[in-house]
Order: sequence, then structure tokens, then C-alpha cells
Amino acid sequence: MTENYEDFISTVSHELRTPLTSIRGFADTMLNSWDRLDEDSKKKFLGIIKEQSDRLINMVENILSVTKLHSQSERIILKDIPVRPTVEKVVQLLKTQYKDKNFIVDEKINTPNILADEDKFQQAIMNIIENACKYSNNNDIWINIGFGEDENFVAINVTNLGLGIDERDYEKIFTKFSRIDNPLTRKVQGSGLGLYITKNILEKMGGTICVKSENIDANLSKITFTIDIPSSDIEKQARAKCIQ
Ligand SMILES: Nc1ncnc2c1ncn2[C@@H]1O[C@H](COP(=O)(O)OP(=O)(O)O)[C@@H](O)[C@H]1O
Ligand SMILES: [Mg+2]
Repeated sequence: MTENYEDFISTVSHELRTPLTSIRGFADTMLNSWDRLDEDSKKKFLGIIKEQSDRLINMVENILSVTKLHSQSERIILKDIPVRPTVEKVVQLLKTQYKDKNFIVDEKINTPNILADEDKFQQAIMNIIENACKYSNNNDIWINIGFGEDENFVAINVTNLGLGIDERDYEKIFTKFSRIDNPLTRKVQGSGLGLYITKNILEKMGGTICVKSENIDANLSKITFTIDIPSSDIEKQARAKCIQ
């Protein structure tokens, strides 16, 4: 996807048109055929209108985030923050929305603090853990969140079971509006902007994100997203720079 402004506008308009067309279509049908429609159909059509409106709101919010990414006014405020409380806060929020999922947060490793913008870090973690909920099979309830560290970075790994991501798509999914066409993705709504935004905000903080998908059997894969974010241990960072 190019960074060209006109391309961006034309892609955005196209993405917005799909839910808008559907909203108008169902509203038209209801207005024109009100007396002929039974109660169930009316309810169903209103449900679709509501669902598509939610989709539109979500897309507009994401698009605003994307435009902010490229504006100078968007400030990143780096602070020395602990990793675990943010991850736990996000898990608490998602637990109420995804009641059937089991979130396992690794208790063993004591991570050092990171140097990050707290709100942006939370937004990134939220996008990744929410994707793990959205794109796992209904009967695969485990979402694992683990930690790791090396001399410069703290790693956060989020793993779920679902339909695998082909190695050829490892980079593509982090670009604007890209979604993988499979039954699990079709089942849930999305604009394909979440990973693009996440990658951008992490890179602004000196971090990275990558994905790895391993086949378990023909229909099931283990998908892990790894976020690396600079550790705030200045001494360690400085020592590492001297060695280089
Ligand atoms: N944890 C995951 N497991 C499997 N597929 C995923 C996962 N996270 C993301 N994906 C795939 O990557 C695509 C892009 O994700 P994202 O940018 O967050 O957009 P959205 O969630 O709006 O579709 C998703 O549509 C999905 O196909
Ligand atoms: Mg998403």
C-alpha cells in the first residue's frame, strides 16, 4: 500500500462505502416494505443497521488514529513504566467482553520496566490481545501472554490458536486495510487498520512487532505476536552501546 494521499482517500472511501451501502439498503427496504415485513425480519434488519453503524464508527476511529500517526501534533511521551500492570489492565477489560476466553498471564518472569508512552503502549497491547480473542476458534479458549527480556528489550508474546497466517502474509498484515480472507476473519468485523496502527506506534517508541504462525494440524495453527519494547534500564542500554 502506498503512502500516497490520494490513494489513501480512495481506499478509505471504498472501505466506508461498503457498510454505508448496506445501511442504506436495509433502511430503504424497511421504509418501502414496512407493512409486508414480519416482526422478526424488522428486528433482523435493524440489527444489521446497528452492526454496520458500529463497524463505521470503529473504522472512522481507526482512520483518525492513522491520520494522527502522520501528524506532528501527535506527541509520544516516553516514561519509565512497568509492563505487567498495563497488560493486566487490558486483560481485565477484555475479560468482560470475551467471557468465554481463558487468559493465562505468565507469572514467572519479573520483567524490567520499559521506556514507553503509557497510553500508546496500552493501545498496542489492546489491539494484539483483542485480535487473539477475535481470531481464535470458539472452542479454542486459551490466550497466553508471556514475557521475556534481553539486554535492551522487554518482549511480550501473545499466543492463540486459530487459522494460520501464511509466511507470505507476515508483512502484509501490518499494512493498511489488510485482512486475511478466511472463515474466522469473515466472521468478525474489522477494518484491517489495527496492526498497521500498532506497528507504527511501537516503532515510534523504538519498539518492533512480528508474527509467527506454526501449524498444529491441517486446520489449526498456533499464532504468536511478539512485541519488543526498549527496556528503561539506562545503564544496561549504555553498556550495550559501549560493547557494540
Ligand atoms: N491473533 C491472530 N490470529 C490469526 N489471525 C490474525 C490475528 N491477528 C490478526 N490476524 C489477521 O490479520 C488481519 C489484520 O489484523 P488487524 O490489522 O488488527 O485488522 P482487523 O482486526 O481490523 O481485521 C486480521 O483481519 C486477521 O486476518
Ligand atoms: Mg484488529
